[in-house]
Amino acid sequence: MGEDYSRKKMKRLEDLPGVGSATAEKFSESGFDTLESVATATTHELAGAANIGTQTATKIIRSAREAANMGYEKATDLMERRKLVGRISTGSGSLDEMLGGGVETQAITEFFGEFGTGKTQLAHQLSANVQLPPGEGGLEGGVVYIDTENTFRPERISQMAEAVGLDPKGALENIFVARASTTDHQMLLAEKAGEMARDDGVKLLVVDALMSIFRTEYVGRGALAERQQKLGRHLSTLHKLAEGHNLAVLVTNHVMSNPGVFFGDPTKPIGGHVLGHAATGRVYIRKSRKNTRKAKLVDHPSQPPSTVKFKITGEGIRD
Ligand code: GTP
Ligand code: MG
Repeated sequence: MGEDYSRKKMKRLEDLPGVGSATAEKFSESGFDTLESVATATTHELAGAANIGTQTATKIIRSAREAANMGYEKATDLMERRKLVGRISTGSGSLDEMLGGGVETQAITEFFGEFGTGKTQLAHQLSANVQLPPGEGGLEGGVVYIDTENTFRPERISQMAEAVGLDPKGALENIFVARASTTDHQMLLAEKAGEMARDDGVKLLVVDALMSIFRTEYVGRGALAERQQKLGRHLSTLHKLAEGHNLAVLVTNHVMSNPGVFFGDPTKPIGGHVLGHAATGRVYIRKSRKNTRKAKLVDHPSQPPSTVKFKITGEGIRD
């Protein structure tokens, strides 16, 4: 996995025909710093990034696609890769079972729902549990936590860690937290997570919440296309991290609060089709009585749709 990732990284942008070091630098400054990001950019984006003509941009995109080898792979290779999928326990047996054994690596899992439904609590619990040994619900891995709403609470992690038998202080040392302030910052933090995954054995990447800054930065229908394009790039980064480093990506998301603006079901997550297609598993969480919550699997490639209950307790997420 990691090997495959670094092999791709080794081919440099400067090696593409028509890209000098100055152009490569301008691309990088605009976030197009890998072959894949250039290969999946639009002509317009790339031309704008380095002040080049659209024809040149088209040619560069084409050669990046070839160089990045974004083609087919054998089903047997895919099968080998699937065997390495790890699963992190949520703390609730029934929620784990619904997900096919827990939150999977090599995938993006989305928890969405209204405020106070427990999305952040779940993200905290998984940040503790991923550190447990395999067989006890973890992957003995570290965490990169991108916090966009300033709701990360180390004290809460300590509580949850202690309750599962981890050293509370040690647990905090394995979590790298960053507070994102803009969408550009959020995207940069995700890109940097690749280095940490390589060096620090990160097995879980949390983005809590995925859309909140996107939503405030891109207001109104006029900005929607641009927002979705950028979101697509962000998700592509997350996806590559998940696959390239065999780690689990967990994103939280809100539901649409104003159906008048984005017509449709007000219980749908924000992010539209771009996110809908990128997320491998989507879980809709609703409040039930007291500290009980209902989780419904709405989209998963290998698990049937179902609804389970879990609780938010002092010790964390439980059945
Ligand atoms: P938004 O980010 O506002 O959309 O909400 P969220 O879905 O992230 O909700 P969050 O995970 O913050 O859940 C909040 C709920 O978790 C609270 O209403 C509490 O019921 C519960 N909770 C949070 N901390 C604790 C705690 O320390 N002990 C217990 N028992 N419950 C807690
Ligand atoms: Mg939250």
